[in-house]
Formats: sequence, structure tokens, C-alpha cells
Amino acid sequence: MTTRVVLGVSGGIAAYKACELLRRFTESGHDVTVVPTAAALEFVGAPTWAALSGKPVATDVWTGVHAVPHVQIGQQADVVVVAPATADLLARAAHGLADDLLTNTLLTARCPVVFAPAMHTEMWEHPATQANVATLRQRGAVVIEPAEGRLTGADTGKGRLPEPAEIFELVRGVLERGAQTHADLAGLKVVVSAGGTREYLDPVRFLGNRSSGLQGYALARAAASRGAHVTLVSANVSLPDPAGVGVVRVETTAQLREAVVSATANADAVVMAAAPADFRPTAVSDAKIKKADDGSAPPIELEQNPDILAEISHDRARPGAVVVGFAAETGDHTGSVLDLGRAKLARKGCDLLVVNDVSGGAVFGSDDNEAVILAADGAAVEVPRGSKTVLAHVIWDEVLRRFAG
Ligand code: CTP
Repeated sequence: MTTRVVLGVSGGIAAYKACELLRRFTESGHDVTVVPTAAALEFVGAPTWAALSGKPVATDVWTGVHAVPHVQIGQQADVVVVAPATADLLARAAHGLADDLLTNTLLTARCPVVFAPAMHTEMWEHPATQANVATLRQRGAVVIEPAEGRLTGADTGKGRLPEPAEIFELVRGVLERGAQTHADLAGLKVVVSAGGTREYLDPVRFLGNRSSGLQGYALARAAASRGAHVTLVSANVSLPDPAGVGVVRVETTAQLREAVVSATANADAVVMAAAPADFRPTAVSDAKIKKADDGSAPPIELEQNPDILAEISHDRARPGAVVVGFAAETGDHTGSVLDLGRAKLARKGCDLLVVNDVSGGAVFGSDDNEAVILAADGAAVEVPRGSKTVLAHVIWDEVLRRFAG
């Protein structure tokens, strides 16, 4: 059955980006009804929405009254996405006003509703807007955090509409989970680390690893689609920022540690999906290290980096927080992959350890993953080969179970 998407567009400059979002929905086979506000049509005209969606558009409740659109559109929707959602639209939605077709639709919809706000930083931060956002979230809507960056003019700050491709991914995640569980992480603050750290030898050379960041980004995206407040500490990853996620960029293990420890102070869950380098050069040369004439190579002396997972597991900034680690293992003469995983879980002191068998380097850069999630309480959940998104959702299910417990 075709999925019915209602794309609400309110009157902000980012309305032009909703055209690309609309295309992504239609090109992937969704049936889309666009409901712009009158102000949205000041930015992008009705012919654009009609041509791209293949349907007539209306802003008021008096067009095509015989089909009762103010009730039908919302009732029949599988998801309603409002992008961009202006401060005015959020206020009207939070207060249950029904003065145009979009606000009527929001009142009749019983499916998941996603708001992607976009406005100037001051408007976003205003207590009135924040109170409206809190009200909408409390009622089960997913209100994604705006991105930071260039705003309408030369100014920058928080308030940008996330990239349409990433809003599309988030809404796909919401649709996959359905109406019952889509915002089950609402109210939780989570921290995810992703990518691989670099340890510099000199200004141009570093020791690094093969982590692509895909699993950590899938975790961040999945948590945001389930309504969590997400901080993603990203080490050297070249992937677009997931919609609604606050991204902190780092390079070295020391920077990763600082960012994770600081974000963890008031977090309900932390997932260490990053691959921090275990060792760093004892000294970093200020100048590029030159080749020696005699053909000899310079010695590299290494020292151990701090173990961030062990530190946050033992310090527990917030009692009751759930700490999750990853273990990329290859079985050896000392034990199987799972034996080594159990030992690592105990050594690190975390609540859950996601164990990957990386013999042959299969998971690096791949869209798929398979794992066993080991719990400190003795449980083991096998996740068969599937997308990193599926594994991400199972990890959050296990986190939620423990957090609730
Ligand atoms: N980790 C960390 N800090 C480090 C190294 C690793 O927080 N300096 C975290 C990783 O993010 C991952 C988990 O620890 O969640 C497992 O990493 P792994 O490298 O497999 O563990 P090691 O402690 O390095 O174990 P081993 O003795 O097998 O190298």
C-alpha cells in the first residue's frame, strides 16, 4: 500500500528546501499531499507544489468543501511532516488553533507528526517558542532541533532547516516504526560517539583507523527519529549531519574524551560507537618530520590514550544512565568472539556491549552489520545481518528497557 504523506509548509525562506523534500517523497513512491500556509505561498507558489506533488493545493478550508478536506487529509495520513515549521505555525499548533487547512489537518491527524522548525536563532530561543515546542513534544510530536549555520542573510546561528535528504531519512525512520512507538525516546538526552580518532605525528601525518562513522550516525539518526535529544560527537567522519542532531566535531582521542565527558554530565544514555585510537605518539613534532639521508626511519614512541568508555562507566556522572560500548573482535587462541566480548564488558564496566565479529574487515564502510548485544545482567540479544539502522533501533530498544527498568 502506498504511504500517504502530508507535507505541511509554513511561511519561511526555507520553504524552497521543502521542494526537494517533496521530490524525495514522490520519487520513492510516496503519495504526497502538500498543505502550504498562505504565507508559504509568498515564498513558493501553488503551481510548484501542485506540479511536484501531482495534486491541487489549498491553504484554506473552503476549497473543495464537498470532500471535507479539513478532516480527510489529516485522518488519512500515515505521517504529517511540517517543514519548515515557523514560530507562528508552532504556536498555532501548540494552542490547537484551526484557522487554516494545515492547522485543521494537524488537529485531525492521529498518525506520527514531525515538525522541522526553521527560524532566526532569537525566535527559536524565545521562551514562547520553547514552551510551544515542549508542549508539542509532550503530546507525542517529533520536533527536530534546527541545524546551526548560515541563516537568511549573512548571519549564522541555530535555526536552519536540516538538509532535506536528512529530514527524509528521519521521516522514513518514523514511518518504519509506526504510530505506537515512534516517539518512545522523547524526553531522553543521549550522547553518541562516531568515527575514528587521529593521533598526529606532525602537522600532516597521523595514525588513524578504518571506522567510517556509519554505525554511530545511524544510531544518532534513529534516536532523533524516536524523539531523543541527541548529541553526536563525531571524529573525522565525512557524512552529512543527521537532522535534529547536535554535532560536535573532534579529531583526537583527547578531544573526543573531553567532548563525551562534558556531554555525558546530564545524559540518560551514552553509546560509544567511535573507534578511539588506543595509542598516541608521545610527542607531536611541530614541523613536518623529514626523511633521513641514510635511509633510516624515525622511531615512533607511543603512549596509551585514556579509555573513555571505562571512565564514563565507572564515574557515572548521572546515576541510572545507561552506558553502551562497542567491541570489534576477532576470535583467537584465548577465546571466541563472545568470550572476549564478555570479558571486555566486565573490564569496561558498561551496561551493554555490542559485539561485532570483524574477522576479514567485513563491517568497515559497509551499510550492513550483525552483532550480539551482551548485557551486564547476563542477557544476550543476537541481531542478524541487516542494515546499521536496524541494529541502531535494537540498541535503543535495549537501552530503553534498561533505562525504564
Ligand atoms: N574505547 C574508548 N576509549 C578508548 C578505546 C576504546 O572509549 N581509548 C571504547 C570504544 O568506543 C568501544 C569500546 O571502548 O566502545 C571497545 O573498544 P576496543 O578498542 O575494542 O577496546 P579496547 O579497550 O581497545 O580493547 P582491546 O584490549 O581489545 O584493544
